[in-house]
Amino acid sequence: MLIRGADAVFADGVKPCDIRIQNGVFLEIAPALEALEGEEVLHAEGLTAFPGLIDMHVHLRDPGFEKKETIETGTMSAVKGGFTQICCMPNTKPVIDNKVVVTYIKARAKEAGRCKVHPIGAITEGQKGENLAAIGGMKAAGAVALSEDGKSVQNTSIMANAMLYAADFGLKCLCHCEDASLVDGGVVNEGYYSTLTGLKGSIRAAEDIMIARELCLAGSLGLPVHICHVSTYSGVQLIREAKARGVAVTAETCPHYFTLTDAAIMGFDTNAKVNPPLREERDRLAVIEGLRDGTLDCIASDHAPHHADDKNVEFNYAAFGISGLETSFALSYTELVRGNGFSLPALSALMSARPASILALAGGKIEAGQPADLTLADLNEKWTVDPAEFVSKGKNTPFAGREVYGRVKYTLVDGRIVYREREDAANDR
Ligand code: DOR
Ligand code: ZN
Ligand code: ZN
Repeated sequence: MLIRGADAVFADGVKPCDIRIQNGVFLEIAPALEALEGEEVLHAEGLTAFPGLIDMHVHLRDPGFEKKETIETGTMSAVKGGFTQICCMPNTKPVIDNKVVVTYIKARAKEAGRCKVHPIGAITEGQKGENLAAIGGMKAAGAVALSEDGKSVQNTSIMANAMLYAADFGLKCLCHCEDASLVDGGVVNEGYYSTLTGLKGSIRAAEDIMIARELCLAGSLGLPVHICHVSTYSGVQLIREAKARGVAVTAETCPHYFTLTDAAIMGFDTNAKVNPPLREERDRLAVIEGLRDGTLDCIASDHAPHHADDKNVEFNYAAFGISGLETSFALSYTELVRGNGFSLPALSALMSARPASILALAGGKIEAGQPADLTLADLNEKWTVDPAEFVSKGKNTPFAGREVYGRVKYTLVDGRIVYREREDAANDR
C-alpha cells in the first residue's frame, strides 16, 4: 500500500511524504514515491500521519464487567480514537493475576482483530494487597507490566518485594498512587468546590504520599517505577526532583487533568467523578508544564467505561472514571498544540514513542522496518464531543458538548486499515 501526500510526524519535525507499506512494516518513506503496479493507494493529502498512537492505561472490563465494555467494543473504541496499541488494566473479574486471564485477553483481542492489546498483570493475587500474583506465568503469557490500578498496594514491604520480583522478570510496576487511610471515602478534590457541594474531599497528600513512597522504593532499590495518572502540582514536583536525582521514574497523566478542574463537579455531574479527582487550576497548569519539560513522559487516557447504572446515581455512590479513548487525541492536540504551543513531534512523543519505550513495545515511530502502525488525522477538523457517537459502551464523559480539533480519519495496524471514519469514504476524498 502507498500512502500519498500526508504530513508525517517524525521526532525532529513534520515532513510531507509518501509512505510505502509492505508485509505489515514501513518499507520506504520519501517525498515522492511512484505507485507500483497493483499497489493500493490511500490518498492522504491534507492529513497528518502520526506513528500509531499508544495508550498504556486502559480499562477493557473484560472478563467480568462486559456490561461496561468488552474487548470487542473497547478495541473498536481504541481504533476510532486513533490507537494502534493499548495496555489493559487488571481490575477485571476475575482479576488478571495469572496466565490464564492474560491468555484469554490476548486470544479475544486477536479475534477482535483491531488494535494490539497488551495485558497488565495485577501485583497481588486478586488485587487484595496480600500475596504477590503469579508474575512469571503472566510474563510468559504476554503481560507487559504489573499494576494494582484502582488502588495502591497499601503495605510498603509487599510493594518493595513486588518491585524486586517484577524486575527479576523484566517488568515494571505501574503505580496508582493513593493512600487509602487518607482518602477515607473522599470522592472529589478537597477545596473550594468540595466545600460548596458538601462532597467529601481528598487532599493532594493522599496521592503525593504514595508517589513519594514509590519514588523512595525505586531510588533505594535501584529499580524503575512508573507513576500513573499524575494529577497534583506537588506530585509533578516530586517526580521532577526524583528524576534530577537519577531515580528511574517515568510518569503519565491523562487529558482530563490538563483540560478540566474540579469546577466540573458543580452540578454534581458524576461524569466528572474520577480517581484521582480533578484538581485545581494550579494543578492543571503544573501538569501541562510537566508534560512540556519531560517530567511527565506520556499521556494515557485511563479509559474507564461505566454503564449508565453506575453513573446515574447520587454522586457518592457513582463509580469513578471517564470513558476516554475517543477523546484523548483531540483533547490533547487541542489543549497542548493549539492551546499551549506544543509541537506536533512533542505531542507524538507523548502519545507514541514514549509509551512504547516505557514498556519496550515495538512501534512508536514512522521508520523503515518498523511495524506499519499509523494514525491519519485531519487536524483542522473541528468537532463537538457527543457521547451518543462513542462506539465504546461507556458513554461517561464530562466533555459532552466540548469543541475540539483533530479528527482521526484512518487507523492502520501492521499495514491494515482497522478504522476509517466513514465506510464509504475509503478512497474518495
Ligand atoms: O477513575 C478511575 N477509574 N480510577 C481508577 O483508578 C480506576 C478506574 C476504574 O477502573 O473505573
Ligand atoms: Zn488508577
Ligand atoms: Zn486506571
